[in-house]
Amino acid sequence: METPDYVDWFSNQVIFITGATGSLGACLLYKLSVKLSTRKIFVLSRRSREKSLQTWKRTIPQQLDQVLDTNKLQFVMGDVTKPNLGLSSSDVALLISEVTVVLHAAGNINLANEAYDAVIANTLPALEMTKMAENLPKLTRFVILSSAYVNAFLPDGPVFERLYETKGQMADPFAELDLVMAREKLPVMDEFPWGYAYAKHLMERLLLWDPRRKFPILFIRPTLIGPAINQPYPLYGPDQSIPLNTLARLYAQSGGGTRVWYSPTGRDAGSNIIDEIPVDLVSNILLLHMVEGSTGIVHAGAQLYNCRSARDFTELLRSNLSPSSQSDFPHFAFTHDRSIPQCALADFYHIGSRDWNFDCSRSERWRHTDGPLSLSLINEGPFILIR
Ligand SMILES: NC(=O)c1ccc[n+]([C@@H]2O[C@H](COP(=O)([O-])OP(=O)(O)OC[C@H]3O[C@@H](n4cnc5c(N)ncnc54)[C@H](OP(=O)(O)O)[C@@H]3O)[C@@H](O)[C@H]2O)c1
Repeated sequence: METPDYVDWFSNQVIFITGATGSLGACLLYKLSVKLSTRKIFVLSRRSREKSLQTWKRTIPQQLDQVLDTNKLQFVMGDVTKPNLGLSSSDVALLISEVTVVLHAAGNINLANEAYDAVIANTLPALEMTKMAENLPKLTRFVILSSAYVNAFLPDGPVFERLYETKGQMADPFAELDLVMAREKLPVMDEFPWGYAYAKHLMERLLLWDPRRKFPILFIRPTLIGPAINQPYPLYGPDQSIPLNTLARLYAQSGGGTRVWYSPTGRDAGSNIIDEIPVDLVSNILLLHMVEGSTGIVHAGAQLYNCRSARDFTELLRSNLSPSSQSDFPHFAFTHDRSIPQCALADFYHIGSRDWNFDCSRSERWRHTDGPLSLSLINEGPFILIR
């Protein structure tokens, strides 16, 4: 197999990454340090170096030494919710002299957060990151993690890789942000199922709208991030960051019985897609677009992997339980009948009863790419479909 052209690109890059102790971040870190020739990686950590290492010892125990042995990592202490990211002036000077790529993967994915808290954790840090990046003279790429569910206010159907307007949004997103920070409860927030989705939508609007911004941004919008196919290892993924693992655990603990899930109108009951994509595929899509210099919005969703229906998903969960636990796992009743109450978890998660089709056209041309960023990942070792 020939070495793909993109491999050389990394040897000239100094990457500043946030969120490297998270689910996606650790996968990216593994790829950038071990699988790719990246020159240097500045890791922003809000805790001590030791605490970050403890996290990785839990999440990537067999791979951590490989990552550290590359000698590519340099820690900088900071907190993305603080002014100037809480960086020391000496660290800022280092970043200014070296960084060519910013990769902002820190965030708070708690769907229960109110809009105000979600904006503090997910919207303001993005603004702070862009402010910092304006001072980086060598910057050639700025990549930020958003979410496909910024569009969770849309009706069922195709969702394209673009920013859609909500009914209630203000024309000036900065004026809207001022109201959020004054703790006003805005009608636009009610168009989203969670404060998290609103915060990411507002983030995209602020960054895309800002006329003063000097560089283009690549927004990667994963759907639900799932366990890895292969990298850093098969089924990698901290449970609390894999939404469907959390959902499965909650159902497994909820006792037997029947749980009602509404099915979208016009679809056979249980046939709507639950859109999940493995974390290593998200990483590869992100990195391929980063090399390419793509800007704007890119989806990373099941269209590039395996579209599983709600019924397939619940059957898969059941089949992975031990025979003794299977009897405690609920039976799912998919129905169009809105006169029967839906179960609380389906209400909260919202997505299981919807039928969005997240278009991933911008990444289609890489379906057959080889090498460490291959989108098939089948060539890399065992292909695992179940968890
Ligand atoms: N998980 C999904 O299904 C999903 C789907 C779509 C989009 N996304 C987006 O993808 C990105 C990564 O998600 P993930 O699943 O990897 O999340 P995660 O596992 O919860 O990791 C979050 C990361 O952000 C860091 N972080 C949080 N607050 C911080 C702060 N104030 N300052 C510095 N670092 C901070 C955490 O550091 P600590 O170790 O210190 O906590 C951790 O490294 C997020 O932007 C998320 O919104 C995720």
